[in-house]
Amino acid sequence: MEKEKTARTKTAPAGSAPAESAPAGSADGAYAAEEITARGAENFPFEKITAPLVKWFNENKRDLPWRHNPEPYRVWVSEIMLQQTRVEAAREYYLRFLSALPSVSDLAACDEEKLMKLWEGLGYYSRVRNMQKTAKIVCEKYGGNFPSDEKSLRALPGIGDYTAGAIRSIAFGLPSPAVDGNVLRVCSRLAADGTDISDATYKARLKALLLNAYPNTPQGCSDFTQALMELGALICTPRVISCEKCPLRALCRAEKLKKTEEYPVMPEKKEKRAENVWAFVIETPRGYSVRKRDAGVLKGMNEFPSLVVPQSETTRKGGADGDADGGIAARAEQILKDWGVEEPHAESVEKYTHIFTHVRWEVTAFFVRAKSSPFDEYAFSQLIGETAFPTAFRRCIDLLKDKRAKRKNGRVRKNESDEGGGKNGSKRIQTRF
Ligand code: ADE
Repeated sequence: MEKEKTARTKTAPAGSAPAESAPAGSADGAYAAEEITARGAENFPFEKITAPLVKWFNENKRDLPWRHNPEPYRVWVSEIMLQQTRVEAAREYYLRFLSALPSVSDLAACDEEKLMKLWEGLGYYSRVRNMQKTAKIVCEKYGGNFPSDEKSLRALPGIGDYTAGAIRSIAFGLPSPAVDGNVLRVCSRLAADGTDISDATYKARLKALLLNAYPNTPQGCSDFTQALMELGALICTPRVISCEKCPLRALCRAEKLKKTEEYPVMPEKKEKRAENVWAFVIETPRGYSVRKRDAGVLKGMNEFPSLVVPQSETTRKGGADGDADGGIAARAEQILKDWGVEEPHAESVEKYTHIFTHVRWEVTAFFVRAKSSPFDEYAFSQLIGETAFPTAFRRCIDLLKDKRAKRKNGRVRKNESDEGGGKNGSKRIQTRF
């Protein structure tokens, strides 16, 4: 059932308004402002956007690597990456990934560490693990060729409604909408539809409406899906809206109402949960300690040994033993000893923040020298080379690089924490043991 929600400004209308009193649009498809008596996607003539939108796309599309030879494997890889990062960043990742793994069978056979390295920095590592599961199924069950029917595609790990729509339309040339955030925004504005975009039925409603607007050729279907995305990326963007360049301006109800900023209607932003994470960069004569995370966020990824520390333990004013740092050093030293690290000494401590989708990590990174450690140990060249680290921990490596450079230049003092502010957006704190 369609929900009616109030727009951000409290003036935008509900998604299910009554039918328009005047016919939709004049001879050239344009509306007069007074004709816009009703809003909502259900009574918007989406079929009128097809021709001007596809024409605009063909004249203005960006030259993106996944647009050359858009076969299913390539479209799939690009779409999963684009769910993680912006187009500009995705270019590099895409070219590197395709050059290392040019076919679905290469992905199916790829060694895990190499795969994680190719995905390093994109986040959501379960996505690339799912991609490999899918690649194996495509090879074993479908002889290396992606199926084109929606049901089979959606049965593959990590392929949902959006990705299936993108593969089916862009690669197979089928009429199959792919409704992502860009497309939601474009459609909400076109139709002046005040449905909150978090409404679980909204995407499905738009998908059904857009289906009627698909051209009847394979190239047209491929272009139409990409054109909607491209319009959302280049013209109908979240904040800077270039209506004067928009091929759909004459049809756009939000623009006619001068209310483009009111659409789409967004849900209230939720505060991210904060976690205090202590990470230990432990250096012994054999190297740096690294282990695999065994649970929670980033499960299965490499990390510097770390743990979540309750807020109460990180904000104590003066430790039980009267430490100026609230007992942090004593607690950290105890953790290391409990892990079996011998003779640990903190050289410096830095703080930085890492933001995930639903949680914010307040990281305290302890740079520690020790006699020995029970963890796997890696040379520095491995840390900066072939070993894959999620960004939350790669920040420690960036800090370590600075520290080593200083050490090499002979500028390191007995305790680096005397040297002032931290680098790489981190903040150095005074704690030692
Ligand atoms: N965003 C999501 N998919 C895209 C695509 N195929 N091209 C450009 N931007 C996109």
